[in-house]
Amino acid sequence: MSTKYELKNLATGKTTPLNAITGTIGPEALDISSLTKEQGVFTFDPGFMATASTESKITYIDGDAGMLLYRGYPVEQLAEKSSFLEVANLLINGTLPTKAELCAFQNSIMRHTMVNEQLLRFFQGFHHDAHPMAMVSAVVASMAAFYHDTTDIEDPRHREIFSHRIIAKLPTIAAAAYKHTLGQPFIYPRNDLRYCANMLNMFFAVPCEPYAIDPVAAEALDLLFILHADHEQNASTSTVRLAGSTGANPYAAISAGVSALWGPAHGGANEAVLDMLDGIGSVANIDKFLVRVKDKNDHVRLMGFGHRVYKNFDPRAKIIRGMCYRVLEKLGKTDNPLFELALKLEEIALKDDYFVSRKLYPNVDFYSGIIYSALGIPRSMFTVMFAIARTAGWVAQWQEMVSDPHMRIGRPRQLYTGPTQRDYQSIEKR
Ligand code: CMC
Repeated sequence: MSTKYELKNLATGKTTPLNAITGTIGPEALDISSLTKEQGVFTFDPGFMATASTESKITYIDGDAGMLLYRGYPVEQLAEKSSFLEVANLLINGTLPTKAELCAFQNSIMRHTMVNEQLLRFFQGFHHDAHPMAMVSAVVASMAAFYHDTTDIEDPRHREIFSHRIIAKLPTIAAAAYKHTLGQPFIYPRNDLRYCANMLNMFFAVPCEPYAIDPVAAEALDLLFILHADHEQNASTSTVRLAGSTGANPYAAISAGVSALWGPAHGGANEAVLDMLDGIGSVANIDKFLVRVKDKNDHVRLMGFGHRVYKNFDPRAKIIRGMCYRVLEKLGKTDNPLFELALKLEEIALKDDYFVSRKLYPNVDFYSGIIYSALGIPRSMFTVMFAIARTAGWVAQWQEMVSDPHMRIGRPRQLYTGPTQRDYQSIEKR
């Protein structure tokens, strides 16, 4: 730690030295924790544009370079060589597992896939057209009522069991939500299958005929899950951390993360992108659509474009775009008008000064929905897929936080702009 900065009150001349904390890579961060005590002021940073909310060893993004590292490993290398469960293990434990460790982890995950039967009954209470994210968020929160015997957050073994349970059961809950919307019977998990193959089976199998799991689809899902597994202190992860910092039941904290992910500015963008492409309809309408995007009064955004951190290509978007070609070809679905439209839209936007000057590039969600669609996953389930993958990151970040002996409740301050003190008036006098 070195002092390189100070904050000076120009009216009183009082100065407060600020320590700059250095990470392993990335900009240093000013430790302002003494500022309020010393100077009686808060810092004001709506949207956390310049605030590091925590120290973390899990994921690193260099937004200008378009770089994403999980525990130091480039996401490109993991996408090419690893598997989702290996990445989940890496995120949680910090090192690449040995063969034996990975085997034990996979076994544990695949032996925690069933959910309590009573929990499954919750789905009967939802209307058939309930959004799957609403069901998943509610049912994940309800897990706190079922698995409360192993949620002593001070106990590392309890934390481990929780982590395995939530990673294992999320696909089962997601599939139950999907089957409920279809009015089809729930398909139980099969522990002899791999993680994504099991999920496809639970989504698409029916009791009345055999279902052949397409290995291409399982592989594509696994790759998408690697790319979505963690993304440092994004909105949903910060939500999990904030909820968890109160000592809340970890299932409740993950449910809070699912809810935060749902918004169209975050994980809900993958669903919104396809709605947008449908709305544009054809290449001929792109220019007209972009006029609306650039009109500040129109409140239309180019969904799947832009990112708080990436001011260059989102490396995940590049991988997914390449994947679209391969997956569509392998599935024999090369004639895909939405993919063609998305490619053209990207090409035109990247030549347009509005997007160039603001450094707006395609993000992870621009192309992911095209692959999900090609795999037969309905639009309303896209964000659920994101949630399944991001659970690995949420769990890793939650574990990192609660195992930190210095953990404190997250409690931001505010700049109050409401009325000053005033006296209550009886209703007759108002
Ligand atoms: N379309 C049009 N204009 C945009 C877009 C967009 N997608 N994104 C940003 N801008 C403009 C924005 O209007 C502003 O312009 P100006 O400076 O003239 O006011 C400027 O770019 C900066 O935007 P911002 O909203 O201040 O940036 P932010 O960092 O607060 O927001 C974002 C980041 C991802 C919410 C935003 O880019 C966005 O809404 N994108 C579309 C939704 C989306 O694709 N979200 C998925 C994000 S990646 C996956 C994930 O995190 O889950």
